[in-house]
Amino acid sequence: MAIERTLSIIKPDGVEKGVIGQIISRLGTVGLKPIAMRLAHLSRREAEGFYAVHKARPFFNDLVTFMTSGPVVLMVLEGENAVAANREVMGATDPKKAAAGTIRKDFATDIEKNTVHGSDSLENAKIEIAYYFPETAIHTYAWAKKA
Ligand code: RTP
Ligand code: MG
Repeated sequence: MAIERTLSIIKPDGVEKGVIGQIISRLGTVGLKPIAMRLAHLSRREAEGFYAVHKARPFFNDLVTFMTSGPVVLMVLEGENAVAANREVMGATDPKKAAAGTIRKDFATDIEKNTVHGSDSLENAKIEIAYYFPETAIHTYAWAKKA
């Protein structure tokens, strides 16, 4: 097991539902701690760049419209196996298929308004973290010196 960093986003539906605190609390229960965090209202350009990998997909335009529809919470999370641990506590992309007790099962509306984003690999986590946070905005806690 290794200490990793991953990018998490509480999407506009999660912010609108007022569950920011509950989501951060659930991340904490699996050992994921925010080491950078900010509220942002993404521009279309920022959202298009972030989801560029999905550019050719039929849902791309709707996804960008949704992600720019209201503020989001951008977070860098740190913890043991952070990438996989975050994906597990998030649940499946489609909340109908998400396991009991996951964030998406309990808070998501549908496959698009699915409340949270999480990096899907360590490689993408590095790219996504750098997309939103300069190194100077990321905090190192005394207990996480090995990260
Ligand atoms: P995310 O990137 O947001 O963490 O979600 P994910 O890995 O679970 O899913 P991904 O395949 O990367 O899709 C990115 C986001 O696009 C929206 N989506 N809509 N309408 C659809 O069929 C559809 N499929 C995906 C979702 O908001 C998904 O989280
Ligand atoms: Mg994804």
